[in-house]
Amino acid sequence: MATLGVNIDHVATLRQARGGFEPEPLFAALLVQSAGAESVVVHLREDRRHIKERDLYLLKELVKVKLNLEMSVQEDIVAIACKVKPDQATLVPEKRKELTTEGGIDVLSGFKKIKQVVERLKREKIAVSLFIDPDIKQIAAAKKSGVAMIELHTGRYSLATNQNEQDRHFRKLEAAARYAKSKNLRVFAGHGLNYCNASRVSGIKDMEELNIGHSIISRAVFVGLGQAIREMKALIK
Ligand code: PXP
Repeated sequence: MATLGVNIDHVATLRQARGGFEPEPLFAALLVQSAGAESVVVHLREDRRHIKERDLYLLKELVKVKLNLEMSVQEDIVAIACKVKPDQATLVPEKRKELTTEGGIDVLSGFKKIKQVVERLKREKIAVSLFIDPDIKQIAAAKKSGVAMIELHTGRYSLATNQNEQDRHFRKLEAAARYAKSKNLRVFAGHGLNYCNASRVSGIKDMEELNIGHSIISRAVFVGLGQAIREMKALIK
């Protein structure tokens, strides 16, 4: 069984569509916690396309479950994280033109910078996770960078167009989780998970947490956020 982190970026995306004040991401976060999810996840993007700094301060003050901030290693974003002090920071790669986070952060090629940022965030008592592809070399480098946890990118598994392909990516996720655990890393996963494919990932041994955004917010449009979360929690039990 895995716990559930709900990414509420898309509530802010809807707000930004009109540039006004609704829907309010803080209300979404409070519903997320009252519906029983274990964490609220937001991504402060460099272009501020959805979540704003103002949202972070409100969330930090009022959210009582874990607040997980997805962020790049860019200096001004790191400075904001050190000021807000979320419970957890998840380092992700960021390209301005991407629709969403397309792959894991490359810990091998960015090792020096990533290690610096990990150390700086840890000094502020922020737990740090790295969002990485299910790849043994990336996991070994993540361990060396000093993090205690990783989030495996499930994008390829989620985008598989047939059962064989899905099985192949699932086995990679299983092997990655096993290796990470053998290195004493806590294992989370996310990206592209939905009501059809999340349950299988939650069943991976030692999988602690799934982080899901788009699918839950999409379902919430029809059944309400509380119901959408309760349905997902039931699936990943
Ligand atoms: N985990 C991380 C690190 C992410 O960057 C994202 C996307 O913001 C998610 C999980 C959630 O992905 P999705 O919206 O596809 O569920």
